Amino acid sequence: MSNVTCEHKEHWPVLNTVEEMYDSDFLIKCSLFEGGFINFGYWKKKIAQCFISTKDRLESGKNLYRYVLNKISLSKKDCVLEVACGAGAGSQLVLHEFGPKEYHGIDASKSQIARARELNKIEKSKVSFQISSSESLPFLNESFDKIFSIEAAQHFQSLKNFIKEAYRTLKPNGTLAISTFFALSDSASSLATELIPTVRDRVDFLYQISTVHQLLQEAGFQGIVVESIGKNVWHGFDSWIARGEFKNSWDRNWYKGYKQGLFDYFVVLAKK
Ligand SMILES: C[S@@+](CC[C@H](N)C(=O)[O-])C[C@H]1O[C@@H](n2cnc3c(N)ncnc32)[C@H](O)[C@@H]1O
Repeated sequence: MSNVTCEHKEHWPVLNTVEEMYDSDFLIKCSLFEGGFINFGYWKKKIAQCFISTKDRLESGKNLYRYVLNKISLSKKDCVLEVACGAGAGSQLVLHEFGPKEYHGIDASKSQIARARELNKIEKSKVSFQISSSESLPFLNESFDKIFSIEAAQHFQSLKNFIKEAYRTLKPNGTLAISTFFALSDSASSLATELIPTVRDRVDFLYQISTVHQLLQEAGFQGIVVESIGKNVWHGFDSWIARGEFKNSWDRNWYKGYKQGLFDYFVVLAKK
């Protein structure tokens, strides 16, 4: 996993790997991510800075999940895998609002998996959580109707291996959804290193959206649909940051990079 050298990230602790970043309590307790989700959120209404409540923040994390799960038409008949399930807040939403036949969550961080198990401990028979990497999924071929991953692919060392593994473990006609931020051009990643320390330190990889499309095609996926949802993500998240303790931090540069056209937030859908 990539090295994290956080010396200049004034509010970030010094951590050595992506797993350590999520094994520590830092992000899960951080006010940027209040409510158990660690994502930028999908903000439905026009956000005015002074009117964002903690409830709105939590709802934005939930709404990002709802948006993606509705896109894949997750139903009660489905066996579903979430890759990088985090602390299990999304798993809880999946189980309570969509009630799939089976839900399996994997995450590279042992603490995230422990948190997810604790949060979802009443749900037993049709639920599993495993510590595992996106690049080697611990499941048989053709296990799932649906696979999805939310705000995690930017950490994957090999997006190609993840996509190949998703293809292998999906049933024929199964659907994959990947939602996170991707670069809009060749030069965007190097320009973003000036703005975003986690990109500079290779904790976040800014894969190009055209590369994602190409990797999906090469793996055999069809019916690939790329949708930008940035207008519902970046402004809302920035407004949330602006109201709190991180209002003067580099985290505000996410919005700047989006406005400069370096990257955007996407939902990418593909069929096996
Ligand atoms: C930004 S959090 C998102 C968590 C969750 N999806 C959510 O929206 O709340 C990213 C998650 O990806 C996990 N992760 C990072 N690299 C991974 C990999 N290669 N394989 C599996 N999980 C990974 C981290 O441990 C972390 O829990």
